[in-house]
Amino acid sequence: MGRARIAVAGAGLMGHAIAQLFASAGHPVAVYDPDPAALASLRPRVGAILELLDLDHGAIDRIAPTADLAAAVVDAVFVFEAVAERLEVKQSLFEALDRLAPPQAILASNTSAIPIGAIAARVRDRARVLGAHFWNPPYAVRLVEVVQAEATRPELVARTIELLHAAGMSPVHVRRDIPGFIGNRLQHALKREAIALVADGVCDAETLDRVVREGFGARLAVLGPLEQSDLVGLGLTLDIHRVLMPHLDRTPVAHPYLEAKVAAGELGMTQGAGFRRWTAAEAAAVRDRFRAFQVAQAKAAAKRPRAT
Ligand SMILES: NC(=O)c1ccc[n+]([C@@H]2O[C@H](COP(=O)([O-])OP(=O)(O)OC[C@H]3O[C@@H](n4cnc5c(N)ncnc54)[C@H](O)[C@@H]3O)[C@@H](O)[C@H]2O)c1
Repeated sequence: MGRARIAVAGAGLMGHAIAQLFASAGHPVAVYDPDPAALASLRPRVGAILELLDLDHGAIDRIAPTADLAAAVVDAVFVFEAVAERLEVKQSLFEALDRLAPPQAILASNTSAIPIGAIAARVRDRARVLGAHFWNPPYAVRLVEVVQAEATRPELVARTIELLHAAGMSPVHVRRDIPGFIGNRLQHALKREAIALVADGVCDAETLDRVVREGFGARLAVLGPLEQSDLVGLGLTLDIHRVLMPHLDRTPVAHPYLEAKVAAGELGMTQGAGFRRWTAAEAAAVRDRFRAFQVAQAKAAAKRPRAT
């Protein structure tokens, strides 16, 4: 038997990389997108990843771009959705997927933060809907959070984990369908405090990033936060928490400092200003640094034995 047929809905930043991942693992991959430009550029963008990672270009021939959703999913075993992060868009797409994909197909959303149960609201068989939250770019960051919603059949979570493993990814099982799952909750808890520190004038954005990159962030890839607590002893963590917890930011909405930046059009590097000011050369230097890191990570990941 050949490899399971995969369908990807959305040929954007995440969709094209998810397609590459499965095509490189030998799966036939149909990719649906309503935007002709996204479809036309799909294969060249996949080709660029293969070039970057020095992978077999034969994977491109296993990718079939289409503007016809029914054709994309008609014989799919797994469907991975990677369209805009808007509830209404995802709900209506899943309603269509439920109608068009085979009844036994697993329907997975790559949402960053929307609960899977909400995305599946208009699906008849909600037992087959789950989250498969990839990180950008999937070829360098192998973790995938596989999210079990209240209605999800556990066996389908296990099958998705198995598929991802076999494709060289590192899937984890998220047992509750909560906004942001695990990774984005942690990441944005850090961002909340980071924004508050800058907004309160404790430091500027550049200093804050240095504290993370050159401080505790440098060890995070080899030592998780709870491992680190176990390493130094929980007594120390408790002593620190007793002093610190009452002082951490607990703004229950998006921080007004962030709201004001966006309202002022200070959206980041492309505007020349975000949390800090950026010249074109400074922005290019950050992009180059990040790209070099991603390529090194991806090449190292290709050589590493897979976690079991
Ligand atoms: N960008 C990231 O770093 C990242 C990381 C993890 C998860 N995600 C999530 O992945 C999803 C996609 O994000 P992205 O960054 O790839 O977005 P993107 O804007 O690059 O791509 C989205 C694609 O979906 C297409 N699309 C729009 N409406 C559609 C519809 N109704 N049906 C099918 N396709 C449609 C668009 O034409 C576009 O090509 C979002 O849910 C996002 O939150 C993004």
